[in-house]
Amino acid sequence: MTLSINEERFLEDFNALAQIGATGDGGVNRPVFSEAHLAARKWFGEHAAEAGLEVHVDGAGNHSALLRQEGAGKSLLLGSHLDSVPNGGRFDGALGVVSALEVLRTIDESGLELPVNLEAIDFTDEESSLIQFMGSHALLGLLTPAILRSPQGGRTALLEGLNRAGLTEVGLLSSRRDPDTIAGYLELHIEQSQRLQSAGVHIGIVTGIVGISSFRLSFYGRADHSGTTPMEARADAGLGASSFVIASRDIIMRQFPDCVANVGNMEFRPGVMNVVPKQVNVLLEIRSVDGERLNGLKSTLIDQAHNDAKRFDLDLEVITLGESEPATMSPPVQTAIRSSAEALGLRHMSMSSGAGHDAQLLSGITPTGMIFVPSIGGVSHSPLEFTEWEDCINGANVLLGATLRLMRKE
Ligand code: HGY
Ligand code: MN
Ligand code: MN
Repeated sequence: MTLSINEERFLEDFNALAQIGATGDGGVNRPVFSEAHLAARKWFGEHAAEAGLEVHVDGAGNHSALLRQEGAGKSLLLGSHLDSVPNGGRFDGALGVVSALEVLRTIDESGLELPVNLEAIDFTDEESSLIQFMGSHALLGLLTPAILRSPQGGRTALLEGLNRAGLTEVGLLSSRRDPDTIAGYLELHIEQSQRLQSAGVHIGIVTGIVGISSFRLSFYGRADHSGTTPMEARADAGLGASSFVIASRDIIMRQFPDCVANVGNMEFRPGVMNVVPKQVNVLLEIRSVDGERLNGLKSTLIDQAHNDAKRFDLDLEVITLGESEPATMSPPVQTAIRSSAEALGLRHMSMSSGAGHDAQLLSGITPTGMIFVPSIGGVSHSPLEFTEWEDCINGANVLLGATLRLMRKE
């Protein structure tokens, strides 16, 4: 039975969602637990309920719409995330959630008998602004009190966010889902790089996802008067932090060209013009498809940070904030995606993902696959992020076809 999505409804849903937290320049601003993010989740729940689907929210705030099949003990999960980076694009995450909802509604309307439940899921904090992949880490039971004590977005921000969302730390720590109840996980996502567009290919079949490790490096010097303290007598934390940032890029370019690193934030304390910085917190993230290389890069950069601290007579504290292993996507799920793309006459290519996704966590407990559609210019995490709507429709129909194949209904 060849089904295809309801294109009109799909576009309507996507545009309605894109209005929530819209920044007026084509992007959205929906950081986790912000008013806009909570409004987007409310929209998702209401929309799913209107479509006759069951709505569930777990202790980590993961939102699910369930198409229940009487007597089924497992669920096949389709989804992505509704949170965005600050001033991000309207496709990242949202496309996957709207497509998942559309696939459930299309299958529901077909009256097909299915061997499993189908669940459209929106994971909490995929963008990791509070805790790295908070929702999927919680679903795997991998969150710990230690992670909640020093979350990468700061403990105050975490507690305030949980409070706004009506969630608790206890809920976060008790949201593990029994892997035996999950039949698999499929995610449609924009590619966020330019390989598909450059190759003129419609569909990316993800083979693997990068590992990501994040750290806070605190350089400690001494606060002094910026006008009266001789330059050579200063213990300036800003010098140690800045020389580390420059050195880390040099190390990557020369020794780890297959990896990437990013310093997304440097916080100077006390952070005023006329005091030599006593402390600088550097937020560092590193990525590699290879776990060994990731560990090698981690130790090389931490050694470098110690050298920079010593050079400027500073102390250094390094705290690991989050670590997600590189992940391999399930070959049978990749085959289902490939066969679905071919049945639609779509050109496809296999590719790894330099972006992180909840799929890299789910792949640890259930057969998992990802479908990419082209990002124009490879731009993402920006209001300029854009994917042709035809490509979004293709992606959603490939998601539908892969879902039916995984349930042997195609
Ligand atoms: O950071 C990432 O790679 C993803 O967008 N969360
Ligand atoms: Mn994403
Ligand atoms: Mn993202």
